[in-house]
Amino acid sequence: GTTIPIAPEDAQPERQQPSKLDECRRCELWQFATQAVGGEGPKKAKIMFVGEQPGDQEDLAGQPFVGPAGKLLDQVCEQAGVDRDTIYVTNAVKHFKWEPRGKRRIHKTPAQKEIEACHYWLDKELAHVQPTVIVALGATALKSVMRTANVTLKNSIGHPVFHEGHWIVTTYHPSYVLRVPGEEAKRAAFQTMVDSLKLAQDLLD
Ligand code: URA
Repeated sequence: GTTIPIAPEDAQPERQQPSKLDECRRCELWQFATQAVGGEGPKKAKIMFVGEQPGDQEDLAGQPFVGPAGKLLDQVCEQAGVDRDTIYVTNAVKHFKWEPRGKRRIHKTPAQKEIEACHYWLDKELAHVQPTVIVALGATALKSVMRTANVTLKNSIGHPVFHEGHWIVTTYHPSYVLRVPGEEAKRAAFQTMVDSLKLAQDLLD
């Protein structure tokens, strides 16, 4: 079958087996991406961040949240007093979906069918890491982890739910904080992310 081989504990690599993930043809997105980007972080992480999909820089680097959104996440972790290296970081969708705009590749929101196709990989990560808390970063991640499109950020932020064996804490996507107009809105959105991560941390105790 196409399962990730389960190696002995200390031989366990920290990333998804790239050869298998990179060969994924469960949806069409692979055709336009440089490579698939799996999750990264400690196997026994208690908190898992789930983003939307790799961005331009992540697509090129083959690692999640290494671009501007990743830098913002670093600041959120620092402000919340949580070491980012203790968190497993991944995305709902593993290939970068984009459209050209001039010389730039502009992110396109993944379709529900692409989110569903990629559950195959997210489920492997969840089974492998078994986090106590999943922090859903933005609406795509929320829909993915809740397995329904019938959920909203507005109703979910500040209200953790226990779902399929994990606490789900919802917050904004870091890219939202980066692009929201106005200093006050930006500050408030950043603070919401910090508060959400503190909430996730509190659920561990
Ligand atoms: N945005 C995401 O959702 N994930 C990344 O890995 C980078 C940017």
